[in-house]
Amino acid sequence: MVLFWLFHRFTFWSRQGVPHESLIKSAYTRYTRPLHIADRDTYTKLGRVFGISFRLFEGFRPCLMIGEPEYIRKVLVQEFDKFPNHRIFYDGDQISGKSLVALENDEWKCVRKIMTSLFSTGNLKKMKPSIDRCTSSLIEKLRKQIEISSTVDMKKMMGAYSLDVLASTAFGIECLDSDKTNDVATIVSDFFGHHISIKSIILLWFPFLIKHLNLYVFQYEILTYLKSIVQKIFDRSRLLKSQTNSNENQVDSVNKNFVTLLDEAQIKIKDKELDNETKEKFVIDNGVLLVIAGYDTTATTLSLIIYCLAIFPEHQQKIVDELESLYLQLERTELTIEEINSLDYLNAVIHEVQRYFPVVPRIERRAGRDCTLGTIKLLKDSLVAIPSYAINHDPSFFKNPDQFDPTRFLNNNSEQQTIIPDVFLPFAAGPRSCIGKRLAMLEIKICLISLLTHYRFSVSLETKIPLDYHIGQPVSSPKDVKVIVTPRTRLLKQG
Ligand code: HEM
Repeated sequence: MVLFWLFHRFTFWSRQGVPHESLIKSAYTRYTRPLHIADRDTYTKLGRVFGISFRLFEGFRPCLMIGEPEYIRKVLVQEFDKFPNHRIFYDGDQISGKSLVALENDEWKCVRKIMTSLFSTGNLKKMKPSIDRCTSSLIEKLRKQIEISSTVDMKKMMGAYSLDVLASTAFGIECLDSDKTNDVATIVSDFFGHHISIKSIILLWFPFLIKHLNLYVFQYEILTYLKSIVQKIFDRSRLLKSQTNSNENQVDSVNKNFVTLLDEAQIKIKDKELDNETKEKFVIDNGVLLVIAGYDTTATTLSLIIYCLAIFPEHQQKIVDELESLYLQLERTELTIEEINSLDYLNAVIHEVQRYFPVVPRIERRAGRDCTLGTIKLLKDSLVAIPSYAINHDPSFFKNPDQFDPTRFLNNNSEQQTIIPDVFLPFAAGPRSCIGKRLAMLEIKICLISLLTHYRFSVSLETKIPLDYHIGQPVSSPKDVKVIVTPRTRLLKQG
């Protein structure tokens, strides 16, 4: 009976005529190569739609990989009701609990609506001065750092910066002291675990056992530590709010941050308002999620942009020229959000780095019921995954995909092929796309403008070309990003 069931599952793709990887090959690649490289190899070999039977089991449910724009649009947008949730996290309720990423259906809708208002245009405007302050402190920190050594690991530097921005924008706490941010940044970067362990193998192959063996998806100690940090941040934020409220003149000085938003929100699940204890869990779990989802993605993107600018100085110079001409035209170096967004070349470079090195190399959705995608049958809880890295390096979507060429993202470049929106997905798309996209883009732009106004980046003997990646992580995270940083005098004189 069991053998029959296993046979039925393992022949799931061949019975439908969907190309798929052999069991052994699937298992082997998953544990020997970074996720994005493994996916690209299979995509190149099997085509834009293929099945995986063993590499990504969810309760022995086969996974379908899709690179076909029509299918991507269906899964993320048009048929969202069939694929509304992320994969199941069996983790002893340590993070998934009540966090947006793990919530499903109506609970997810309710919390998503509340959290979306955190990133509204009005709120982003209020967040800008905090980002500016964190950026000034980064510039100062770099100045001190290069007095010691001109080769800097930008991954570490950007990690502390990104955490600082999150603490001040989302939680309303002004720049954390740098020892604390470094400490938390190092801890969070270890969050997903950097090596393949028996635990991660059990987790992916036999997720239902995790519950019984009391194992956790993420590092238990790190989560507990993060929760305690978030709790402290919240306590400080609440105290700040009560002090501000008692002083009428200061009422406007605190922007709507995540804590105040969730504290004030009426969270109703199935028409019942939450009791205080469950609501507190919502607040803490989602606070931890914001740190996890927003910290590493933004820090890694920023460090990869610096890496590309060091390797391709001609693109660094083009951004500097664009910036300089805007400063000259405005006769000032302080820019509004609109002026920042008018920097087309800067924007094109960010997009090209996101294409070349997508930090989320695979976007996943889970089927809410037995259903079909086009003509392909899927079982309830099957994963459908979009291999972003493989798609971004597919020559039929991006001309010369292995060439770093920001001009492909310039609107006025008639030589380039038009980019199909369904295949360029740095923040995913549809109702479950990245909630922090606008904050991330603003933070990245403000940071780069300031960095390039003050410093020049170049390759050092320690710069790894190509990059060295951790294996077995859900985000594409290079081990380090070391470059030479030297002060830039020309733009400083303008400023
Ligand atoms: C460059 C930086 C970032 C990148 C590339 C990025 C990318 C993504 C992607 C691709 C997803 C969708 C995952 C999926 O559908 O499977 C996502 C979801 C999410 N992101 Fe981001 N993200 C970034 C920054 C941020 C920031 C700054 C925050 C918050 C402060 C954030 C919070 C979230 C949350 C909460 C979700 C889950 C949304 C939901 O399930 O409804 N992200 N992100």
